[in-house]
Amino acid sequence: MIRDICFDRSVFSPRELPNDGLPEICLSGRSNVGKSSLINRLANRKDLAKTSQKPGKTRSLNYYKVQEQYYLVDLPGYGYAKAPKAEKSLFEKLVNPYLLNRKELRGIIQLIDSRHGPVSGDHLMLDWIESWRGRVLYVFTKADKLSANERAILTKTYQKEFDMGDTMMFSAHTGMGLQTLESWIRETVRPDGGD
Ligand code: GTP
Ligand code: MG
Repeated sequence: MIRDICFDRSVFSPRELPNDGLPEICLSGRSNVGKSSLINRLANRKDLAKTSQKPGKTRSLNYYKVQEQYYLVDLPGYGYAKAPKAEKSLFEKLVNPYLLNRKELRGIIQLIDSRHGPVSGDHLMLDWIESWRGRVLYVFTKADKLSANERAILTKTYQKEFDMGDTMMFSAHTGMGLQTLESWIRETVRPDGGD
């Protein structure tokens, strides 16, 4: 569990980004994949990050400050079919420039539903991440919905498919994978961490 984590700000435009130079790790993935639930599980709190049954609600970069040392940044989800135009404009104006230009960004945690693997909406992001310079962790979410046998098979499949980064199974509901996730985060924000 990560102690001393608090909501810092919601960023709706690049000029609202923090300028204290602290390192950042962002969480990327489709709407509903479990980004906010992962943050809540890390923090061991129920509603630090808003989760919902209704996908596509997050329209900002949501900053959480950890131990005054680094930020976890919850990105808006993509792939929400009901609002493709709004989503495109949000990504063009805010998310893509953030990913491309943010010097403080040390690592990307890319979430993928463990049951389905990458689906159509994921491929743009996955292709882009492959060419990114920093550390990448692929987190396969909702692993509590798989049987132990399915998990074992899929773990191997995903390791092979995503060998350009680290991979892990995770469940926000049971806490599966929590320690691995925490170690990865700590290593990534270490002053001499990264590449
Ligand atoms: P957006 O903010 O719309 O991009 O979604 P999100 O990626 O933040 O997803 P969120 O954390 O809000 O979770 C979406 C739904 O999936 C909620 O109903 C969660 O309860 C459920 N969920 C998240 N993580 C898990 C998990 O580990 N296991 C199970 N079974 N359900 C989960
Ligand atoms: Mg969310």
